[in-house]
Amino acid sequence: MGELYMPRHVGIIMDGNGRWAKKRGLPRQIGHTYGAQTFKNIARYISKQGVKVLTLYAFSTENWKRPAEEVNAIMKIFHQYLVDSLTDFRDDDIKVVFIGDRSVFSPELIDLINESEEVAKDRKGMLLNIAMNYGGRDEIVRAVKNICRDVKENKTDIESISEKDIEKYLYTANQPDPDLIIRTGGEHRLSNFLLYQAAYSEFYSMDILWPDFKPKDFDKAVEEFNRRNRRFGGV
Ligand code: IPE
Ligand code: IPE
Ligand code: MG
Repeated sequence: MGELYMPRHVGIIMDGNGRWAKKRGLPRQIGHTYGAQTFKNIARYISKQGVKVLTLYAFSTENWKRPAEEVNAIMKIFHQYLVDSLTDFRDDDIKVVFIGDRSVFSPELIDLINESEEVAKDRKGMLLNIAMNYGGRDEIVRAVKNICRDVKENKTDIESISEKDIEKYLYTANQPDPDLIIRTGGEHRLSNFLLYQAAYSEFYSMDILWPDFKPKDFDKAVEEFNRRNRRFGGV
């Protein structure tokens, strides 16, 4: 294949941490620890490939259903990740932002999230959206509420609301839609990821479990993406 075309925005559903641990006779939490390491390595690698926006699905609005022990372990990993990330992505010039409802996290975690965004805000490299307590439906409900508020305050009128306006109320405002969504762990579903934005994303599912995901697996997904014929409803 000749010159590869890089997707501008890539989304990754990082699935399979639990199964990865189970296969080794380890508690699920250990899978999340290894998954967090993969997360850092892969974010760095992808930023070097010229991708402009990367969205990583780390914790869904439905993941609270899991046993408290597992949820607590994930929050602990998240906390450690945030402490490290203040300096971690600096050399790569990666601009970190968080999407999802952060209001439910502990005050300490919220402070760290804000701080982590603050130190990265002037970086010019890849934009990294970390989806944490993110749900596509929750995002749409939030957008609807904010639109209604603006209508009520006469900032906008109902008849003029367009698709472009709705995009502005999403967490991903001013970002291009995902071109490619990769899911590890072998399932063929979105699990509430970027529902509005994914209308014309190319979906690529791989059997590999997230902690085992390597740069070459990303390259494989990009090669497959280059073979896809995107029609956007045209011919
Ligand atoms: C994805 O891995 C990480 C989170 C949802 C937090 P899982 O924990 O869902 O791993 P599997 O799917 O059970 O193997
Ligand atoms: C999707 O994985 C969410 C994340 C990767 C953060 P899940 O493991 O929660 O998805 P389901 O339950 O298999 O649909
Ligand atoms: Mg899973």
